[in-house]
Amino acid sequence: MKILIIGCGGVASVAIQKCCQNSEVFTEIMIASRTKAKCDALKNKLENPKNGKKPTKTKISTAQVNADNVSELVALIQQFNPEIVVNLALPYQDLTIMDACLATGKHYLDTANYEPLDTAKFEYKWQWAYRERFEQAGLTAILGCGFDPGVTGVFSAYALKHHFDKIHYIDILDANDGDHGYPFATNFNPEINIREVTANGRYWQEGKWIETAPMEIKREYNFVQIGKKDMYLLYHEELESLAKNIPGIERIRFFMTFGQSYLTHLQCLQNVGMTAIEPIDFNGQKIVPLQFLKAVLPDPATLGERTKGKTNIGCIFSGTKNGRYENYYLYNVCDHQDCYKEVESQAISYTTGVPAMIGTMLLLQGLWRKPGVFNVEEFDPDPFMEALNKYGLPWHENFNPVLVR
Ligand SMILES: NC(=O)c1ccc[n+]([C@@H]2O[C@H](COP(=O)([O-])OP(=O)(O)OC[C@H]3O[C@@H](n4cnc5c(N)ncnc54)[C@H](OP(=O)(O)O)[C@@H]3O)[C@@H](O)[C@H]2O)c1
Repeated sequence: MKILIIGCGGVASVAIQKCCQNSEVFTEIMIASRTKAKCDALKNKLENPKNGKKPTKTKISTAQVNADNVSELVALIQQFNPEIVVNLALPYQDLTIMDACLATGKHYLDTANYEPLDTAKFEYKWQWAYRERFEQAGLTAILGCGFDPGVTGVFSAYALKHHFDKIHYIDILDANDGDHGYPFATNFNPEINIREVTANGRYWQEGKWIETAPMEIKREYNFVQIGKKDMYLLYHEELESLAKNIPGIERIRFFMTFGQSYLTHLQCLQNVGMTAIEPIDFNGQKIVPLQFLKAVLPDPATLGERTKGKTNIGCIFSGTKNGRYENYYLYNVCDHQDCYKEVESQAISYTTGVPAMIGTMLLLQGLWRKPGVFNVEEFDPDPFMEALNKYGLPWHENFNPVLVR
């Protein structure tokens, strides 16, 4: 089947390589992005691989596209005529790509929810507002199909389906022990990453959102295969959909680990105004400090070779089954260097790109297809869980986990 992938950065390059390992499903891919040279380089790598790997059987073509422009997207989609458009560019392009899908009658999938360029605020409301139009067109839009959001939602649906009558609490824990040797670098797009971690924290408790200052709530947790790490409460987009889609959930929180060097640099950059998103005048030109910072930071796509260590991302569920109170931890551990050996990428891009491929595959196979706009926890988790084990992100269970205070 034919798919169009928009974007050719860290996440897209993993997703495309994983699709190409699965050529029976993905017979033809067009890679279209702002910088066509990156698409051509990836096509060349897949068609003429080194280290004794076999060339992919998937037919690949490339194109230049500005995904902020709906009519450019529409022309490209009409010309290539894919089954689905997979958005692995940036959250700013979500709505234009959804508009183009509606105009051309194509399914849609992404890994991050829309945020406007000029406001550091991500929310599902803009994309959920497309629900009726996708329903009426008989098209499926799958939102947030990376790891977090993505696998964390699938884990939640799986826990609810197989282990609980009711889930009371969910804690999502995202640990990254990767060391790339730089004093400061981000593991995915720096602009999106810094907007996320400098925002206020927020969590859902007893029917309302509780807001915190950035990094105000800190806990220590002992992660399997990583060890003890400090982690901080952040607002993360799956909290919004899970608070709605897990019936009767009483509390849901998200914690992410950060090293001291990262936090010290970030604090300093914030203090001097380098993370600001309002344009300033510089030598007669308007520049956005955060976009300038992105330009001087290492490109996340180049971190793979240098990054050593592991990620451990998962969810701890507490709830009731047959009247008994139970705790259950589902998680994945991913090794940065193993990812590099397989697809020349670090684990953050890998843990996002693999689920994007799996969600696309399930939609193409008709297993995750229904008219409307959906978050991943609204589909049957079982085929996704099976595919995670098969395609490089095996999961583990702990029926007696240490809980987060
Ligand atoms: N759910 C999760 O677990 C998770 C985790 C990490 C990241 N993400 C999401 O994954 C997405 C990709 O992240 P990444 O690290 O791969 O970012 P990245 O390396 O910066 O790649 C973004 C790609 O999009 C292209 N692009 C940007 N604006 C475009 C436009 N207007 N038209 C066409 N192409 C455009 C870029 O082109 P150039 O090459 O010209 O810059 C680049 O190829 C982001 O939305 C991020 O939030 C999700």
